Amino acid sequence: MRGSPSKHGGCLPPTSGIYNRDVQPIITAENLGKMYHAGKIEVPALRNISFAIEPGEFVSVVGPSGSGKSTLFYVLGGLTHATAGSVKIDGVDFATLSDAQRTSMRKSKIGFVFQKFNLLPTLSAFDNIRIAYDISGRKEPLDQAYLTQLTDLLGISGRLQHRPSELSGGEQQRVAIARALITRPAIVLADEPTGNLDTKNSEAVLEMLQRSNREFKQTVLMITHNPEAAAIADRILHMRDGEIVSVERGTGAITRLANVGASNATATQT
Ligand SMILES: Nc1ncnc2c1ncn2[C@@H]1O[C@H](COP(=O)(O)OP(=O)(O)OP(=O)(O)O)[C@@H](O)[C@H]1O
Ligand SMILES: [Mg+2]
Repeated sequence: MRGSPSKHGGCLPPTSGIYNRDVQPIITAENLGKMYHAGKIEVPALRNISFAIEPGEFVSVVGPSGSGKSTLFYVLGGLTHATAGSVKIDGVDFATLSDAQRTSMRKSKIGFVFQKFNLLPTLSAFDNIRIAYDISGRKEPLDQAYLTQLTDLLGISGRLQHRPSELSGGEQQRVAIARALITRPAIVLADEPTGNLDTKNSEAVLEMLQRSNREFKQTVLMITHNPEAAAIADRILHMRDGEIVSVERGTGAITRLANVGASNATATQT
């Protein structure tokens, strides 16, 4: 059974179990720990975190401020080292990679939406999006139709020539989302992607993430404070004091299971 100690080493909480149980997880965290050192003070930001995410799953991470969500985002994305345990992406342990290999894996497989956007200040919104595509190493040319679809849906088409300092916080956030999605990465890691947005724009962003997940089978891990946003996921991980304290099924899993049931029923009838 997926999640058994024999298969993954540690005792992992089960995945949502809506996909093929024999498929290799795209993200595996095993007994992850992260200790920050602030002067003489040690801050245990992550403690003994284990879980596995299946390809194509949509997972939300919720928890109070300071519970370790962004730290988990950085560790899963290989942007900072764990101080204990391991992260595997597609079965490859980050710790076995050189810095260059880790960077290359990030560029090719992961789209990041940072809590603080991290847009390049001297580039226009358009160039911020395009440069992410250029450095991803994709061989095929940028899909202009997809770029137009993304920027239209995110409501930033009229702002593409502006630099980040000439954009509102919410506009910068939506540019950061377009930048993460433009390469259609296998994994989208999004830290509070709706944190600066009003209801209408939050809905647009969530719709875009759901489409990426459903249409392009991208795996999405979204950190959020918003319970309504979290609920659209297949699975919701609740964090507190650096630990995952509970796991709950979201409406995404329920919808998927209903669809599977409906298609099975149709197959039986025909
Ligand atoms: N560079 C750092 N040095 C020392 N302590 C840090 C550092 N970064 C984060 N921390 C601490 O680690 C803990 C987890 O921080 P983290 O940013 O992961 O929380 P979070 O859940 O993302 O919070 P928020 O919801 O406010 O974004 C906090 O106690 C924070 O003060
Ligand atoms: Mg955070």
